[in-house]
Amino acid sequence: MKRIDNILANSGICTRSEARKIIISGRVSVNGKKITSPSEKVDENAPVFLDGKPVNSEPLIYLMLNKPEGYVCANDEPDSVLNLVPKEYYRKGLFTVGRLDKDTEGLLLITNDGDFGHSVAAPSRNITKIYFAELEREVTDDDIKAFASGLTSKNGDSFAPALLEKGEGKSAYITVSEGKFHEVKRLFLITDNKVLYLKRLKTGGLSLDEKLKKGEMRMLTEEEKAAIFEG
Ligand code: URA
Repeated sequence: MKRIDNILANSGICTRSEARKIIISGRVSVNGKKITSPSEKVDENAPVFLDGKPVNSEPLIYLMLNKPEGYVCANDEPDSVLNLVPKEYYRKGLFTVGRLDKDTEGLLLITNDGDFGHSVAAPSRNITKIYFAELEREVTDDDIKAFASGLTSKNGDSFAPALLEKGEGKSAYITVSEGKFHEVKRLFLITDNKVLYLKRLKTGGLSLDEKLKKGEMRMLTEEEKAAIFEG
């Protein structure tokens, strides 16, 4: 952990006393949280933003991972998906855009661009995500209607309407736009069903590149980056 004023000054964009003024004026954020105290200590590898732009000199990178099961979307864990990032793509401040559960597979975005990450994850953007699920029992017409009208759990959590489409046998495709914690699994539990396997296929207009083997990643093209916001 390092003082935020030191990190800012060491980045070479200002002196230590200028850094103090900049921080107090509320222009600096770390991991999406505004920092106004120059003495606050933050993780020295965390992305630091000044006026919404990264202050580290690392080039921005946008990666698509075909996440395998068994990896978590958290930093500093031995089973973190960030440990799958090959050397040539490694940058300071990489983070996952949103989260997939440890046992969920498929499309996961990794970047060091805080603005981009927060735009994709922002609930106000309503970016849709499409999942493939294998379930304990077949989907019924009543399930499809229930998902479409919006479900509420026993403890009162309500979910926005979701599109449920029947797949082969006990499988289904689900389109959601909220991004609530364990959203897909919880939706099925409300309808007395259970997710046995889950894979994210699409975020906005960007589909998982099925040529990527599990655990592999590649850079997004500019068109793919834009497509995320067009889905
Ligand atoms: N919904 C879930 O329940 N789990 C995921 O990993 C993603 C969406």
